Amino acid sequence: MKSTNSEMEKEITPQPRQKREAPPAREAERASGGTAPIGGVFEAISKGEKFDTETHEELGREDAVVGIADFNLHYGDSQALFDVTMNVPRGKVTALIGPSGCGKSTLLRSVNRMNDLIDGVTTAGAMTLNGDSIYGRTVDVIELRKRIGMVFQKPNPFPMSIYENVVYSLRIDGVRDKNVLDEVCEESLKGAGLWEEVKDRLSSNALRMSGGQQQRLCIARAIAAEPEVLLLDEPCSALDPIATGKIEDLIDQLRGHYSILMVTHNMQQASRTSDYTAFMYLGRLVEYGATEEIFMQPRLRETEDYVTGRFG
Ligand SMILES: Nc1ncnc2c1ncn2[C@@H]1O[C@H](COP(=O)(O)OP(=O)(O)OP(=O)(O)O)[C@@H](O)[C@H]1O
Ligand SMILES: [Mg+2]
Repeated sequence: MKSTNSEMEKEITPQPRQKREAPPAREAERASGGTAPIGGVFEAISKGEKFDTETHEELGREDAVVGIADFNLHYGDSQALFDVTMNVPRGKVTALIGPSGCGKSTLLRSVNRMNDLIDGVTTAGAMTLNGDSIYGRTVDVIELRKRIGMVFQKPNPFPMSIYENVVYSLRIDGVRDKNVLDEVCEESLKGAGLWEEVKDRLSSNALRMSGGQQQRLCIARAIAAEPEVLLLDEPCSALDPIATGKIEDLIDQLRGHYSILMVTHNMQQASRTSDYTAFMYLGRLVEYGATEEIFMQPRLRETEDYVTGRFG
């Protein structure tokens, strides 16, 4: 979706609409004996009943960079993800939305196996990265994480120079050629829209940058490693509106070059920046489709209620 922020806000800010008596897809599915629950998805979830995610057809035409199939995750005895099945499309921006505690960060952290670091986590189901198993027994998790960049809610630059932050992954890989390091540093900072602001102070400590600059530095550090997927967990939630606008512009520019899976609580941000949106609720993936459809014409009443701010 490309448009200026103000245009897009006007166009796509979710407006409460007349409640439909029954969303057509569910009605049709019910008539054809499908699995859409009569009492509604939330009721089915609260009763622990199974239901199928409402995945829109256009996702089937996308090339998947990450494939997630029947993925379940427990923290000890407590289940946080239930049968999540979704493909993350290549070169697109996919937003994960849903109320607090519904499992967005858990799902994101499952993709690069960050949850392995938490005691008592068990998983079932499958995930693939460009066809390679993510959870297979022989997977080298360090190598896997190099293929998947991650940026967190709170910027976390390392306490070192701007330059060393950006080339960190290359240093770890033993790259010593200064020309290569310089070039990657410049390209990555340009890619993150930060070069002009910092090119004259690359040797200064990254912790002295503003929060918005630190977050773009973290994105530069992630893209310097040339990841196959970029995971962003509420990358703007600690930033002011101007810094947020810069990150959103950056995400827009990265579209096409990178496959991005991004958690956001901000509905306008999801509608402005993403191509696809996945709505989660209580550890389930409820509806997944093109962002315009999820916001303007969702198939499920539950999705509509959430994106129009009726609950959550
Ligand atoms: N380290 C952990 N140990 C135990 N339970 C956890 C842990 N992290 C998350 N959970 C639980 O898993 C569920 C999903 O949490 P998660 O952080 O993934 O939600 P979220 O959708 O990212 O929420 P938010 O929007 O508030 O960030 C919650 O019930 C949470 O309490
Ligand atoms: Mg979270």
